[in-house]
Amino acid sequence: MPEWIQRLAVYPPGMPIEELEREYGVTGSIKLASNENPFGPSPRALEAITKALPNLHRYPDGSGYYLRQALAERLGVSADAIILGNGSNDIIELVARAFLRPGDDAVMADQAFVIYQMVVQATGATARSVPLKRYTHDLEAIARAITPSTRLVFLANPNNPTGTIYKREEWEEFVKSVPADVVVVADDAYADYVEDPDYPDSLRYQRHDRLLLTLRTFSKMYGLAGLRVGYGVGPVEVIQVLNRLRQPFNVNALAQVAALAALDDREHVVRVRRSNREGLAYLQQACDRMGCRYVPSWANFLLIEVGEAGRVYEALLRLGVIVRPMDVYQLPHHLRVTVGTPEENRRFVDSLAAVLGVAAS
Ligand SMILES: Cc1ncc(COP(=O)(O)O)c(C=O)c1O
Repeated sequence: MPEWIQRLAVYPPGMPIEELEREYGVTGSIKLASNENPFGPSPRALEAITKALPNLHRYPDGSGYYLRQALAERLGVSADAIILGNGSNDIIELVARAFLRPGDDAVMADQAFVIYQMVVQATGATARSVPLKRYTHDLEAIARAITPSTRLVFLANPNNPTGTIYKREEWEEFVKSVPADVVVVADDAYADYVEDPDYPDSLRYQRHDRLLLTLRTFSKMYGLAGLRVGYGVGPVEVIQVLNRLRQPFNVNALAQVAALAALDDREHVVRVRRSNREGLAYLQQACDRMGCRYVPSWANFLLIEVGEAGRVYEALLRLGVIVRPMDVYQLPHHLRVTVGTPEENRRFVDSLAAVLGVAAS
């Protein structure tokens, strides 16, 4: 086994509710740990899945034809410029496998989606990380960190776990300064939540001669995390390379029909976006009242400074509230909480106040 595989650690997923309830003997717990959509899947997606169930003995459409056509129309790109993935995670891994070998490196922020480092390490290449600046990607420093060995840059906008965004001006400077042979992965998993007019939608910067890959997912805004479906948009040549590496049926049949239906469910998107905005505002105001610092977020989660986060995390678990400790991101004083339903948000705030020994309101 190559020594870089020996050094790989297993990705630590958020604790499932069932495990918590078994271990701590609590019931009625809530999970705000994996940035899932608390409002459930799009009802149209559920209907489409029900209709597709009798055909489960068939393999899925390996090309994802209808979903790619619908996305192409929606995004104003050619269907050949789109690859579907078993979650956008699948595509993150394909990119690393396609472009990295031992001796190469990939540049990313110190605290960015932890999977980037893992997929890079799995290829034997080196992940080089650049510190965040005020909890936000420092695109200037990332551009400076690119060397002749750099093949890939991973960016998440909004970033996970901070929820921050980089703005249009900084992004445009960055795009100009990146060498033409470096692939930039713009992971826009939470883009659907952002309402800042200075947010740079990386899809608008797609050009046939620019090595830019935009990643999107149906896991967040569309509430289909359990089905695993995401997509990438990029130059046709890059997409062709990724297609050679992917499994022939990497996106299952139910995921394809559900994503197609969810894409047209405007009502669901509008409702989720509004509820998330209100939930974030509620959580941020509660933090202000409790005297907890937080990082203002554009995503569906909030990074909160709570002192001894390990202890607070454990105490919340005992109250049946699952959030995410941030030691894996080298933030031992922070917890990341996903925006829940209004009831879940209230329960989290009351529980946190009780654990910290402060008033919730
Ligand atoms: C920044 C970022 N990118 C990608 C993903 C993966 O999403 P998917 O469910 O599409 O694999 C996540 C999931 O939390 C994420 O936070």
